[in-house]
Amino acid sequence: MSDGRALAREYLEQQRLLGGDPVVLPDGPTVLTPGASPGFTNNPSGSEVSDSPITPGSRPGSVEIADLPPLGISYDPPTGDLFTADPISKTVSLADIAALVAGCTKCRLCESRTHTVPGEGPDDARLVVVGEGPGQVEDETGRPFVGRAGELLTKILAAIQLPREQVFICNVVKCRPPENRQPQYDEIASCLPYLHRQIEILKPKVILAMGNTAAQSLLNAKQSLGSMRNHVHRFRGIPVIVTYHPAALLRNPNWKRPTWDDVRIARRLLDD
Ligand code: URA
Ligand code: SF4
Repeated sequence: MSDGRALAREYLEQQRLLGGDPVVLPDGPTVLTPGASPGFTNNPSGSEVSDSPITPGSRPGSVEIADLPPLGISYDPPTGDLFTADPISKTVSLADIAALVAGCTKCRLCESRTHTVPGEGPDDARLVVVGEGPGQVEDETGRPFVGRAGELLTKILAAIQLPREQVFICNVVKCRPPENRQPQYDEIASCLPYLHRQIEILKPKVILAMGNTAAQSLLNAKQSLGSMRNHVHRFRGIPVIVTYHPAALLRNPNWKRPTWDDVRIARRLLDD
């Protein structure tokens, strides 16, 4: 036995005398439990070891090595804690997330939806576009940004040489708010984990947040869109460009020019 091992044994025997827990040594079947080792009779706990916690019914103080797990490997049974029980964190693909969203009833928006709209685009998309929530046509089709605002988005992307098919397009909430009202705070809070997981799986190079809801939700900020534009923000290290929502551009064409400026910055970041 090496000096280190001798020291360890001495230390463990001291622990045993003090009533410490059973310990398995690597060189044999002996289990040091209080009173277990020959030559030690002053068992401080005063109990016998026939009820050894490791192998009930085995010879007092010893077990067959084959009954034990390999040294140094913990074999605690898995426990269902808050995190491992969360189905979103167990998803490994965009399709997994879409399947969860399809059955989601975490907020009241599930009651009035026709289809969930999880988002669409390739697994290897380098740009993720985030809007607010599905509108009527999106709710009818299950696809994001396919109404008038969607047509404009497709043009905006084409202007920076990005075919829409190469972009992952989605929203903060995956179900249509009634009458296209803004999603409420608790609805956003319920739905955000899906967006976060989508981004985690996609690992895009750039995120384009379109409109207040997308920008404030992603960046956990309360500032106005105007004050968030013209800065490169970050979401978990990924650059986030904030710009106007295409639906807002349809109402206010003056915002088109600044929007082109913003998406050009996104383009530059993609090319870097
Ligand atoms: N507006 C959005 O924010 N998202 C859509 O999918 C469509 C319109
Ligand atoms: Fe679930 Fe999101 Fe739809 Fe609410 S909006 S029901 S959280 S998928």
